[in-house]
Amino acid sequence: MQYSSMVIYFMSGTGNSYRVATWMAEIADQKGITSKLYQISNYCEKSDLEEEKDLLGVVFPTHGFTAPWQVIRYTLHLPPGRGKHAFVVATRAGTRIASIPFPGMEGTASYLIALLLIMKGYIVRGVMGVDMPSNWMSLHWGLNLANSKFIIARAKVKADSFMASIIEGKRMFRGILSLLLGLFLSWISLGYLIIGRFFFSKLFFASASCTGCGLCAESCPLKAIRMTGRNKPRPYWTFSCESCMRCMGYCPNKAVESSHSFAIVLYFVATIPVSLYVLNRLNEIIIIEHYSFFFKIMFDYIYTLSSFFAAYLIFSWLMRIPLLNKLCTYTTFTHLYRRYHEPDTALKDIMMESKKD
Ligand SMILES: Cc1cc2nc3c(=O)[nH]c(=O)nc-3n(C[C@H](O)[C@H](O)[C@H](O)COP(=O)(O)O)c2cc1C
Ligand code: SF4
Ligand code: SF4
Repeated sequence: MQYSSMVIYFMSGTGNSYRVATWMAEIADQKGITSKLYQISNYCEKSDLEEEKDLLGVVFPTHGFTAPWQVIRYTLHLPPGRGKHAFVVATRAGTRIASIPFPGMEGTASYLIALLLIMKGYIVRGVMGVDMPSNWMSLHWGLNLANSKFIIARAKVKADSFMASIIEGKRMFRGILSLLLGLFLSWISLGYLIIGRFFFSKLFFASASCTGCGLCAESCPLKAIRMTGRNKPRPYWTFSCESCMRCMGYCPNKAVESSHSFAIVLYFVATIPVSLYVLNRLNEIIIIEHYSFFFKIMFDYIYTLSSFFAAYLIFSWLMRIPLLNKLCTYTTFTHLYRRYHEPDTALKDIMMESKKD
């Protein structure tokens, strides 16, 4: 099939997936195919969708060995494919230690989105995972520039060749081994989707270096940050946060931290012994034993999320006290970690509205 136009929907925290999407658009342009990039945001208006485009791409980062919830939701809201061709690319955490490159693992990420597209009537022509520099700065330090550039250069070759093959009409299905591993680890992915992402969103806080400029709130693709406080506004991370790392990677003052000491507190608040105590007290009031297994699971789930919410409310309030803020800042590894964003991607590049060209 000869394509004349293409649309790529991308989600990107620190610019990796955006960069991959732009390489693909460049290849398409060279072949005379007009292309547009749209950012996946927290809503999907039917008018966003480009009915006239004959090739659709979805490019996004891997989170928890699968696709981020935002991408799953957005794909579900796409209009029926009616035989339109599509491709899916998940970027993943490439690293390089002592000159040895290590691949990331996209797991079920790309094939899950491909499956959803097929169910919507699209014909999926290609699926791929591609290593870009790992951006999970809550967990580890960012890569240095030389290592990042090395990984990015290899990714470009892979992305260009994938796109050229799709345009030539070839089918490209990569990452079957990763898919099998992803299926094996799907309990981790599920855990990440239903609990993990909420847990990680509630570890963010702004250190004393924060000037209250509001850039993080403005640039968050999911509008997950609220600036709170009249005199000195400070960011407050809501449950809408997908831990895409944009606020952390682009804060001009390196003020966004992820508190590892609070992670321990949150763990105990949501599990034993606090949960045991609270649930026992609640049990005395509403006698949970009488209810079904499903009810008990839902009850525990609601408790966990509510405890995250309440504990974080107190935590973010305490972070306004300079001494406690300093204590948390100096007891988190992220204070030592290097920040990462794709070296050629400025914040304004990925702050595009979902409808803009
Ligand atoms: C919360 C989170 C979870 C991640 N999980 C995975 C993972 O399971 N496997 C993997 O290979 N990379 C994982 N990564 C790394 C990113 O997928 C990778 O760096 C991606 O290229 C980031 O793209 P972006 O800058 O477009 O957001 C994760 C990153 C974050 C922030
Ligand atoms: S965390 Fe950074 S970007 Fe956000 S308000 Fe503070 S200084 Fe500005
Ligand atoms: S709050 Fe930060 S990490 Fe969370 S979605 Fe927004 S930019 Fe990404």
